[in-house]
Amino acid sequence: MNTTDTPDSPAADLPDLSRLTVAVIGAGNMGGPVVTSMLAAGVPGERLRIANSTPASSERAAQQLGATAAASREEGVQGADVVVLGVKPYQVTGVLTELREHLGADTLVLSLAAAVTLEQMAGVLPEAQPIARAMPNTPISVGEGAVGLMSTGLTTAQHDLLHALFSRAGVVVDITEDQVHAFIGAAGSLSALVFALIEAMTDEAVREGLKRDLASQLVQQTVRGAATMLIESGTHAAVAKNGVSSPGGTTVEALAEFERQGVRGGIASAMAASMERSRELTGD
Ligand SMILES: NC(=O)c1ccc[n+]([C@@H]2O[C@H](COP(=O)([O-])OP(=O)(O)OC[C@H]3O[C@@H](n4cnc5c(N)ncnc54)[C@H](OP(=O)(O)O)[C@@H]3O)[C@@H](O)[C@H]2O)c1
Repeated sequence: MNTTDTPDSPAADLPDLSRLTVAVIGAGNMGGPVVTSMLAAGVPGERLRIANSTPASSERAAQQLGATAAASREEGVQGADVVVLGVKPYQVTGVLTELREHLGADTLVLSLAAAVTLEQMAGVLPEAQPIARAMPNTPISVGEGAVGLMSTGLTTAQHDLLHALFSRAGVVVDITEDQVHAFIGAAGSLSALVFALIEAMTDEAVREGLKRDLASQLVQQTVRGAATMLIESGTHAAVAKNGVSSPGGTTVEALAEFERQGVRGGIASAMAASMERSRELTGD
C-alpha cells in the first residue's frame, strides 16, 4: 500500500489510493454505491475485488461497477489493505469469524452495517485489528451523499486513508457511535423519505395534468435547486420559505395546508421511528 503523496496525486493532500487493494464483501444496494465512490476516489478497478453470495453474482456486480470479481470471499480478502463489509447486519460477525484468519494484521476492516458496534466486531477479530464503521447513504454514488465514520484503533495514516476512500462521496464526518442513530435518521434513512416525497409530488403533478417526464423533471430540479440554494447561500430554510410566500398568494396557501395536514409532524415521526429502530436493533 502506498499512502504517500506525490506531486502527481489527484489531490496532493490525500493519500494516494492507486496502489491500494480493497475487498468488498457484499456489493448490494449500499455496497455498490460504496464501490462506485471508492473507484471515483482513485482505487483502481483491478484492485477493487468484489465477493457476493455467489461467483455469478460477484461477476455481475464487478462488471456493472467496473471492479474485479473475486472467486471467493477468502480470495477477495487475501492481501487486501481494506476489507469492506456490505452484508446484512446479522451476517457481519459470522463473515468476520470466517475471514479473520485471512486478514493481515494491518488490514482495515470497514463495516457498513447498521446496528453492529465496533465492540461487537472487535469481539471476533484479533486484538489491535484496525476497525471502522461507515454509515453512508445511496446518493454517495453520485458524489452527493453523506457518510458518518466511526473507528477504533486507527493510526492517523489509517484515519486519513478512511477519509480518502470517501473523498468523492459528498459530506463525510467523524461521528461517535452514540450519534449514529441520529445520523441514520438524518441521512442514512432520510434519502428514502426524500425519494418517497419526490414520488408523491411527481404523482400529484401528473394528476394535475402534467406529462410524467415533465413532472419528474420539474420536481427533481426544484428539490435539487432548493437544497443547492440553501447550501450555497447559507440561508436558513425558514427565511427562504418566507421569501416565497406572498401575502394571500398560492405558496402561503400550500404551506397552510401542509401544516393543517400534519406533514411536518409526519416527517418528524418518520425520522424518529428510524432512529428508534436503530437503537432497538443495536440493543441501546
Ligand atoms: N441500503 C441502504 O441505504 C443502507 C444504508 C446504510 C447502511 N446500510 C447497510 O448496508 C448493509 C447492506 O445492506 P443493503 O441494503 O446493501 O443489502 P443488499 O442490497 O441485500 O446487499 C447485501 C449484499 O451482500 C451480499 N451477500 C449476502 N450474503 C453474503 C455472503 N455470505 N458473502 C458475501 N456476500 C454476501 C449479497 O450478495 P447477492 O447480491 O449475491 O445476494 C448482496 O450483494 C447492511 O448491513 C445495512 O445495514 C444500508
